[in-house]
Amino acid sequence: MSTAHNNAQKGDFAKTVLMPGDPLRAKFIAENFLTDVKQVNGVRNMLGFTGKYKGHEVSVMGSGMGMPSIGIYSYELFDQYGVEKIIRIGTCGAYSPDCKVFDVILGQGSCTNSNWFSQYGIPGTYSAIADFDMLKDAYEIANKIMPKENVHVGNVLASDIFYNDQPEVWKKWQKLGILGVEMESYALYCNAAYLGKKALTILTVSDSFITHEETTAEQRQTSFKQMMEIALEVAIKE
Ligand code: HPA
Repeated sequence: MSTAHNNAQKGDFAKTVLMPGDPLRAKFIAENFLTDVKQVNGVRNMLGFTGKYKGHEVSVMGSGMGMPSIGIYSYELFDQYGVEKIIRIGTCGAYSPDCKVFDVILGQGSCTNSNWFSQYGIPGTYSAIADFDMLKDAYEIANKIMPKENVHVGNVLASDIFYNDQPEVWKKWQKLGILGVEMESYALYCNAAYLGKKALTILTVSDSFITHEETTAEQRQTSFKQMMEIALEVAIKE
């Protein structure tokens, strides 16, 4: 079997898949954190790998940027490849003054400006949330390996828009307690809920809307070790 977007065979993916946005980060994680690694997807260079972490099978695959992209890949992993859990590992822009560059945000809930939910034909809105057990495990692990003040749990915004024509609109989300913005979690959580699977989003703050501090591309590629450790430990929890 294979899909239009994935040439892995059935059984090539582990039950848990880590999904960074960047496929080269997936390769980096596979090469640096996993053993017995096998590349399982190469379509459109959306690299996917399966290997072992502390003796447990774990996969890692790029999601691409934005909800259409993670929507396709996560749906197929859940629906066609028997994947049970997806852990998105990404970056976000901080809206909250408490969230500093390199802090970790666990996406307990996800808001969106996307119309992703309209596909279900339900007259209402949907609160997209992380799987509680995965969230709890991630929080416990994060607090073991990082100072408490650098770990945040709460609502994030999954935005369709990076270059926003309304540059001040983020302040309205901030007022509602949104910790930061990324572009994928809502679609991932909806796919998981719709298909009876589990998902979590773990984010490193890469830039701040308040202080305008930023990180370099090189730092983004290599220095998110703590987030990876949290994700890998959650991945192998029974
Ligand atoms: N906006 C959207 N997604 C992001 C950002 C941002 O500022 N930073 C990292 N991911």
